Amino acid sequence: LSAANLYDQKVIDHYEHPRNVGSLDKNDPRVGTGIVGAPACGDVMKLQIKVDDNGMITDAKFKTFGCGSAIASSSLATEWINGKSVEWASTVQNKDIAKELCLPPVKLHCSMLAQDAVQAALSDYKRKQTKKEIVAEPIE
Ligand code: FES
Ligand code: FES
Repeated sequence: LSAANLYDQKVIDHYEHPRNVGSLDKNDPRVGTGIVGAPACGDVMKLQIKVDDNGMITDAKFKTFGCGSAIASSSLATEWINGKSVEWASTVQNKDIAKELCLPPVKLHCSMLAQDAVQAALSDYKRKQTKKEIVAEPIE
């Protein structure tokens, strides 16, 4: 079996031409970083977002150590959330990613990894914002 038989063309396209591969500065207060792993297979995904003053995602990057479906899922997720609000990004569902990429059931956890990574990046960003507010209080 060739890869073309195993994977949908969209997966292969994202795998061969992944969008938004790279890193953002994790110490930037506007950057949220999510690193998640899939217990089912040991794959790891890092996904980062950069958010502007209006809560809009102005950049999204990922690095994935994993299978073709995981790479395609994270590539697609960064493409979807780039230019959207953090609220919108929080609604990204793995089933939508899986549907878009026509992932077979055995590969559903790969798209779950992408949803988890987006959620983790959003939480990290929110945690940093809360920290900033606390630091701004006069009790320091
Ligand atoms: Fe490791 Fe999916 S099982 S790449
Ligand atoms: Fe584990 Fe794809 S992320 S097989």
